[in-house]
This record gives sequence, structure tokens and C-alpha cells, in this order.
Amino acid sequence: MFKNLPDLTKEEVIDYSMKYVNPGKTKEWIDRGINIVMGKREGYAFWDMDGKKYLDIHINGGTFNLGHRNPEIIEALIKATEDFDIGNHHFAAAGRALLAKRMSEVTPEGLDYCVFSSGGGEAVDVAIKSARYATKRKKIVSLLGCYHGHTGFAVSTGDKIFKEPFLAEGEEGCFVQVPLDDIEAMENELKNGDVAAVIIESILATYGFKIPKPGYLKAVKKLCEKYGTLYIADEVQTGLMRTGKMWSIDHEGFIPDMIVTAKGFSGGVYPIACTVLNEKAGKWLVEAGRMHGSTTGGSEIGCMVALKMLEITTRQSTIDNIHKNTKRMTEFANEMVQKTGGFLKGYSQRGVIMGMEFDVEDASKTVTTALFENGVWAHNSRLRPYVLQFKLGLLVDDTYMDELFDKMEKGIMLACNRAK
Ligand SMILES: Cc1ncc(COP(=O)(O)O)c(C=O)c1O
Repeated sequence: MFKNLPDLTKEEVIDYSMKYVNPGKTKEWIDRGINIVMGKREGYAFWDMDGKKYLDIHINGGTFNLGHRNPEIIEALIKATEDFDIGNHHFAAAGRALLAKRMSEVTPEGLDYCVFSSGGGEAVDVAIKSARYATKRKKIVSLLGCYHGHTGFAVSTGDKIFKEPFLAEGEEGCFVQVPLDDIEAMENELKNGDVAAVIIESILATYGFKIPKPGYLKAVKKLCEKYGTLYIADEVQTGLMRTGKMWSIDHEGFIPDMIVTAKGFSGGVYPIACTVLNEKAGKWLVEAGRMHGSTTGGSEIGCMVALKMLEITTRQSTIDNIHKNTKRMTEFANEMVQKTGGFLKGYSQRGVIMGMEFDVEDASKTVTTALFENGVWAHNSRLRPYVLQFKLGLLVDDTYMDELFDKMEKGIMLACNRAK
């Protein structure tokens, strides 16, 4: 299976994972009948170690935007090792300098500073720390149904299913959640002038790609300006062209104080994430620059990989492909609403990300399983389990799309017939 680990069996991997990695998670997937151990991976497909092929429309939330083991990314990674290693996080560094300069070009005006981390949760933590430094306030407001990662501050902003088991609610009143689209509730929290930041996923991914009502995010930003609060746009799942624009926030007509990006930022091969900050949010970088750091976040190899990822992502041919496939996804979803007689009730879509809402309580037991049986790996929303997350890669071609829709139709119809 693996060129350099020819003797390793799937059974051994599962056995070691049960014994040494995470017995709870390993068992949960096996009990659900989804006992994937990724073996070969290529383009937008991977093969289980038992040889079965899966089309990947989960793409780990955008981690594989450019596909699994994209050849141009792999080449950039190998080339980077000829000059670089992780580097030293204390000094100015070629990789970080070049990547940060490019990021300032692909983010809205005024977002000029970059702080690099190893993962998205860490990058969210950086955004929250930055807001607290800049405002000298502690309180953070997020939305009910949001998810911003599992690290310290990030998990405290999230849904209670993520934070309660680890007693990560934060101090009383420090991390507050309000309902999506309720501008009055937001203002009630902000009006005391004690909120450091509002953090919002521009589309609520873990909540099944729920898109805020038109104008809501802009209205929140206005309130932030009124009450001296910073606005953090979490673009970990929605950024990097997946919505047809570089950032989902670009559809909303305002500029946030910070943008957080991760997942696909890694090109799918080298962990790296980034918090982009404006002058106000980046105050600590000028006044107390050594007060936050990460040894491996912003590794120079990772920076060279991310630079290549940005080059591919911003190509006109990539953007054209996204627009074309956005249309194909819409057509497919409309067709499936008809063909299933409403079992697929509706969908939310921006670009090549889509939440498909099914007439079931828990799509993990029906749709996800039926798709899995038909060779498609997709994942339902954790917080609204009746929604399937359909996340298409940026570079998929027509042949892939035809194969995908054929398999998805079979899977969805199977789930539909089973539900009758
Ligand atoms: C919107 C959002 N923010 C932050 C994160 C955390 O990223 P990471 O898993 O790299 O820590 C995730 C991860 O799924 C996410 O979906």
C-alpha cells in the first residue's frame, strides 16, 4: 500500500490507533460502519487501505482544496527543503516575509500584518489575544452553533458540546454566544462597551454551511465600530476562493479587523495557518512583538508551500473552474430535490461549498452511510446532523464531476428509498 511501509496492514493501523492514539474516536467510526484508513491518495480521491476508492467531498473542510498531494504543491515542498527547514521563529525570515507580503495583497486593504501558526485553532487564539491587547477588554462574543477550533480560547467561543467536556467555558461572562441573524441580541452584548471582539465564521461550516442573512454581518461590523469592538472573520473553511471570491467576507461589502485562515492554507501537505491583522488589531506586534510566538507556526518550508498554494488558488483558470462548478452543483442539487420528492429539502450554497438539508433527523445514519457505500466520502454537519456538507475541490474537472454526480445520485436515492 505505502511505498515505504510495504508491510503495514490496515488491521495493524486500527489496532495501534485503539491502543496508542484515540480509542474512543477509532471505535466510534468503526461502530458506525465507516472504518476508513486512508491509503493511497491522489487528486480528489483516496483509497482505503483495503483498496476501495472514495471520491472526497469532505476534503477536510478545504484542507484539500487543491486536491490530495497536488503535484505542484509537492514540488514546491521538495524545492523548499533545498533551502529551508522550520527556521528560527525569533528572527526575520525569508519565507515568512515573502508569504506575509503576498497575503497583504490578497486580503482587503489595511490587513497588512500576518501572524503564522500551526493550525486554525491556534490562529483563532492569536486573533482573540490580539483583540484583548488592542482593546484592553476581555469579553468575546460569538454565535450559537459556531465552531472555531479546539484550542484554549477558540474552544471557549464554540458550542457547548465542544467546551463543556473540557471545562473550557471561561470565566463567567467572558465568552458569550448570541443567535445568528439577531442584530438586537448582538447589540445587547456590545452596548456596554466591554467586548474585545466578535468572532464569526463568515458561513457557519460546522452548523451545516448556514449562510447569514444578507446584511447581517455588515450590521454587526457597524455595531463593532460603534462600540469599539474588533471584528474577527473566521475564514478557515470559507476562505481561499471556495466561495468564488478570495474570502467569503468579500461578498459582504465590508472589511473586518482580522481574518483567520488555515486548513487549505497548508496546501494539504504542510501545517500552517495565519491570522491577518489591521493596524489596530496588530498593535501588540509593534509594541510587544515578542509577547507571542510559535516555534513551528510559520515554518519557512510551510511558508513556501503556502505561497505556491496562493499562486494556484488565484489563477484565472482556477477561478473560472470554481464558477463553472458552482453552477453545476446548483443544477445537481435542484435536480435531486425533484428526484427525491423533497427528501432533499433544500440547500445553502456559496461557490463550491454547499449544505444539503435532508428530511431526516440524522444524515450520518442515512445519507453519509449511503454515499460511503457508493464510494463518496462526505460528512454531515455535527451541529445540525440532518445537513450534509458538500465541499467540492477547486480544481476538479468534468470527468470527475460526472463520476461524482453519478455516485452521489445513487447514494442519495439509496438513502431516500431506505427512509421510505
Ligand atoms: C471555522 C473553523 N475555524 C477554526 C477551525 C480550527 O482549525 P484547526 O482544526 O486547524 O485547529 C476549524 C476546524 O475545523 C474551523 O472549521
